[in-house]
Amino acid sequence: MEKFVIKGGIALKGTVEISGAKNAALPIITACLLTEETVVLKEIPKVSDVFTILKVLETLGCKCHWKDSELSINASNITTTEAPYKLIKKMRASYYVLGPLLARFKETKVALPGGCALGSRPVDLHIKGLEALGAKVEIKHGYVSCKAKKLEGKSIILKGLHGPSVGATINVMMAASLSKGMTIIEEAAMEPEVVDVANFINHCGGKIKGMGTPIIEIEGQKKLKGTKYSITPDRIETGTFIIASVITKGNVTIKKCEPEHNRTLLLLLKEYGVEIQEGKNFLRVSPPKTVKPLSIQAGPYPSLPTDLQPPMVSLLCITPGNSTVVETIFENRFMHVPELIRLGADIKMVDRYTAIIKGVNQLSGAPVMASDIRASAALILAGLVSKGETHISRIYHTDRGYVNIEKKLSKLGARIKRVTDPTAP
Ligand code: UD1
Repeated sequence: MEKFVIKGGIALKGTVEISGAKNAALPIITACLLTEETVVLKEIPKVSDVFTILKVLETLGCKCHWKDSELSINASNITTTEAPYKLIKKMRASYYVLGPLLARFKETKVALPGGCALGSRPVDLHIKGLEALGAKVEIKHGYVSCKAKKLEGKSIILKGLHGPSVGATINVMMAASLSKGMTIIEEAAMEPEVVDVANFINHCGGKIKGMGTPIIEIEGQKKLKGTKYSITPDRIETGTFIIASVITKGNVTIKKCEPEHNRTLLLLLKEYGVEIQEGKNFLRVSPPKTVKPLSIQAGPYPSLPTDLQPPMVSLLCITPGNSTVVETIFENRFMHVPELIRLGADIKMVDRYTAIIKGVNQLSGAPVMASDIRASAALILAGLVSKGETHISRIYHTDRGYVNIEKKLSKLGARIKRVTDPTAP
């Protein structure tokens, strides 16, 4: 196993280019199952989650090829519609094969993903949506089996206890794009990744309207065709680099990003005291002069993304005054907190959704452990401003979602190295 070793104390400076969005790339890759024709995808981030989903597609019989940075996928010869547990358990998002396989082959059997580090993460809304389209769904022996004589468009409300679901909205949208007639998803997730998947399906000949709003209309098609499509920039990677610049009091220009997708973060950081210049596809972050503590809440888009909550907690750890951070989506999303406390942060959990942070002058390096992708990002940012060395283990979590993060940070002046972890089991 590998770990990161970071020597803190350098203000980041320079330019970084953002990769394509992992959370758009994963469902767009599975949406290739909707057509027999070849699809060519550009700006797919080469992160381990992408390689995991490609393994799932190859198990189903798809041909996937990289040519330089372009990925081509052909799903004309599907040999099985069953996605086994050994693949699904590696990554929840493998569940995105459910909607497309059901829509194209009228039957599929996909292992239930189970919980993850962030909490129980049910899939009831995915199932509710597919049943509404006409699927008979059975859960047996850890598998969800879906069968349908035909799928027909319906009006479906897809809101759960924690608000809309990105995954359910996308899975149902994919299935509806090959169903008969019109499907209307109400209380749909509005995340830019949902919009990107809808745009991709439209490029393949689909007819989807209203993406990016709570009501999405999908006019089902008999067939979809191949296309060439470029994935939207990763707003979570963008946000991570914005916060990395701010926390180190650096001067970072972020290129190939979509500023509008990070509007709430930009407004919060303005309130915090940071000046950020913005252009069509770039952001230039200046070092903050005086900073203020914040009260922030992570929630569904357009709120602050839950995936940027951990990096924001790191920033507020070294911000004078008391800050409050509320998580509204996942019941177990403060796994970074005990690790940040090891670095000297002063954080009290009021309950599992609310953290009160009292800013300290300085964090101090220590060995810490990453528990998920974004918790690992929070620890990296904290390491960048900790006195001495921070050793972050279990960085396979980082590699699931960030392209070459240590190379991108090193180019900005950070002292970060990836080394073999001799203490790992
Ligand atoms: C996606 C993102 C993840 C992000 C999350 C919220 C991917 C691969 N992952 O996850 O990085 O943190 O959106 O923006 O894109 N829920 C139900 N029933 C369901 C489905 C979800 O109750 O059937 C609940 C979840 O437990 C959670 C909330 O709804 O509390 C939102 O989850 P959802 O938007 O579905 O997250 P994912 O799509 O899994």
